[in-house]
Formats: sequence, structure tokens, C-alpha cells
Amino acid sequence: MPLRAPSRGAAVEVVDTVDGFRHALDGARAAGRSVGLVPTMGALHAGHASLIERAAHECDLVAVTVFVNPLQFGPGEDLAAYPRELEADCAVAAATGAHLVFAPPVQEMYPPDDPIGTTVTVGALSETLEGAARPGHLAGVATVVAKLFAVAGPCRAYFGEKDYQQLLVVRKMARDLGFPVGVVACPTVRDHDGLALSSRNAYLDGRQRQAAAVLHRALSRGVDVVNAGERRPQPVTAAMAATIASEPMAELGYAAAVDARDLTVPERLSGPVRLLVAARIGATRLIDNVGMTA
Ligand code: PAF
Repeated sequence: MPLRAPSRGAAVEVVDTVDGFRHALDGARAAGRSVGLVPTMGALHAGHASLIERAAHECDLVAVTVFVNPLQFGPGEDLAAYPRELEADCAVAAATGAHLVFAPPVQEMYPPDDPIGTTVTVGALSETLEGAARPGHLAGVATVVAKLFAVAGPCRAYFGEKDYQQLLVVRKMARDLGFPVGVVACPTVRDHDGLALSSRNAYLDGRQRQAAAVLHRALSRGVDVVNAGERRPQPVTAAMAATIASEPMAELGYAAAVDARDLTVPERLSGPVRLLVAARIGATRLIDNVGMTA
């Protein structure tokens, strides 16, 4: 893939209608430009910036979507509190090489007079881990991403490995439904102590922020245990869970060692492996994962 130098810093165009977004991307392709899509829920941080920068290197026109999707939040989750800061998001998008921001209001994506009747569920991949912890969440993600892909048309779409299960679900959904979209996986961006960047890190106070680094320590411990020769998943997950338990402010959600291709738990770890953890730090639920070869 040839790399192109993006022109950064120009103001982005903001579009808030589905028709306007479709028209803009159709127009770009008609003019011979390739399209890169970066779906987000806003509150853009350096992790998002890395997706936009990659898209800007690989595509002629980069569109960032900013939409806090109600379908992927369960009752009692943080839909109302989720940070909404469109102006700052547009500044990040512009500075990192995006050309267009699609920021529809909820009623544009889900018209109240025509309630959504079609949802997308991605089978077994959605049933484990986040799917078990947050019923309906991954169907909400798959549904909104399918809508975004349908509107955006042929493109490359950039997703972070930080949400590894989401990445697999979106990739499978795109294949199953035949969307002309190449799903590109981008590495997790981490803070100095290993904490994966996430919009939800903004909820943490100072002590919680320090405590949150335990997720990455747990994953590193899991990697060490596998590298020391352990191939049974259970001792690996037990070591990760024990690390989380060593942090008094953390409450374990899950620790898992799975086949990276389909998230199943094998009898023995071999080939591509993904280690994943979820933990609550105070009221904030965080997830993280790393890949390795066993
Ligand atoms: O990862 C996210 O920010 C969201 O789940 C996504 C993919 C934009 C769908 O709303």
C-alpha cells in the first residue's frame, strides 16, 4: 500500500445527515479518491489519533464518525455521562489528517417515527467475554457499524485492537454481509505505565488512574507465564486474576486466555493467542488485551 503524506491542520467539514455523508463519500470516490473511515464515539484521544493518522497515510479522504450509539449501552451504563465534545474532536480530527467528520444526532441514525426493526448479531463471537458481561452490547456495535458501512460505501475502516472482540465481530459482520469494506486493525496506544488509552479513562480520579495500570500488569504477567512454558489456559488466567486481585481498588470482571482467531478457550494454548482482562476501578469498567504466539 503506497503511503501518502496527509495535509494536516486544515479545518474539517462537519456533516450531520446520512444523505450528506453518503453524498460526500460517493463524490470523493467518483473523483477517484479512496476513502478511509474511522468510526468513533468521540472524546478523541491519542489512540483515535493513531487510527486517523494511519487512515490518512493509506487513503485519499478520511472520514471520522462521531456518534455515541445508544444501542450499545445497557441499562445503568454510562450513555448519559459519556463525554461529548464535538468541537475538540474536530480539532483532533483536523490535526491528524481527517477531512470530514460525520456527527449525526441520534434521531438521524434512529428516527423516532421509524424505530429500528433490524439488528445485527454476530453469533458465537458475540456470546463470550464482553458479550456475556454486557448483553446486547456487541449487537449494538455490529448494528451501528453495519449502518455506517452501508452509508459510507467502499472504503477501508480502521479499528483499534484495544477492543479486540469488537474488532473480530466487526470483521466477521463485514464478511458475512458482504460489505465492500476492508477492516484494518491498529495497535493499542498505551500511556507511560501501560494503561491502554480509552475515553473512559477520563472518569478515573488520580488514585484510580494509578490503580488502573493493574490491567496491563496482569496481561504482562499472563505473557510471562505463557513464555515460561505454560500452555494450559487456566493457570494463565489464574495468574492474571491474581495480579488484578493484588490491587485493592480493582474488581475483576474476567481474565481469559483464548485462541486469537475465534475467542474459544483451547485445551492447550498454541499459535495465535489473545489474553484479555476486564476490571472495574471504582465505577469505571475497563478492558484491555494483548496478543502473543504460544
Ligand atoms: O469503539 C467504538 O468507539 C464504538 O464501539 C464504535 C465502533 C464507534 C461503534 O459505536
